[in-house]
Amino acid sequence: GVMKELLGLRDLEAKLRSRLGVKEAIVVPGDSDAFTWVKRELGRACIARMKEAVKPHDVIAVMGGTTLAAVAEMMTPDPNMETVTFVPARGGLGEQVENQANTISAQMAGKAGANYKLLHVPDQLSEETYASLIAEPGVRDILEKIKSASMVIHGIGEANTMALRRGSSEEFLHKLTEEQVVAEAFGYYFDKKGTVRYKQRTIGLQLDTLDDSKLVISVAGGASKAEAISAYMNYRPSDVLITDEEAAKRLLSM
Ligand code: BG6
Repeated sequence: GVMKELLGLRDLEAKLRSRLGVKEAIVVPGDSDAFTWVKRELGRACIARMKEAVKPHDVIAVMGGTTLAAVAEMMTPDPNMETVTFVPARGGLGEQVENQANTISAQMAGKAGANYKLLHVPDQLSEETYASLIAEPGVRDILEKIKSASMVIHGIGEANTMALRRGSSEEFLHKLTEEQVVAEAFGYYFDKKGTVRYKQRTIGLQLDTLDDSKLVISVAGGASKAEAISAYMNYRPSDVLITDEEAAKRLLSM
């Protein structure tokens, strides 16, 4: 029955909290690998949690990906968000337009009735371009905003999947396998232990600035992401993990 199912989910949440060290876990039924509607359920849960935490004039930084796109899809108008500003957490990381952080941030703001700011950065940055970009006054302004974010919403990817999606070289893919790099988040690649092995060069939020002043919400589901979620949480347990039943079960059986 429904009650038994709910109890099962609450039990998975409690086990995830103690296993991963996250402050809060929210588990929705199903498997987002198998059904796209489950991704929208992750989105719905994420929006509810964001609305619970939001304060006037907050800055909310969001990452890209199909999961975050599903979060944006579930956003609804909210008077408490009128003074909120959405920003992309980091610059170009090689995604299709609809899955880019800029797009998602603008879409969330549009649906919520909030404000947004864009960060224009090419995907492939040379050292020199990087240096001159961050010296631009307009860019500096938005980077300050991103730093001041009180909430950060991001996805977690399986390392290989993300490298392939970004058109990385054979050589890089090979290294990922060899070094047991299993997770990707914010353009950083992590091994099983949660050690950062590679980092894509772009501007915006740097991982070591995710301190206690920010509410970090990670949204990732599907059994195929279990290992990636676990690896990333070894790096830094998030405040809130929103995942699905199959990812939770796979993770807890590892
Ligand atoms: C990307 C982010 O846009 O989305 C990554 O840059 C993240 O950090 C990925 O891991 C997740 O994608 P998806 O489609 O699995 O939600």
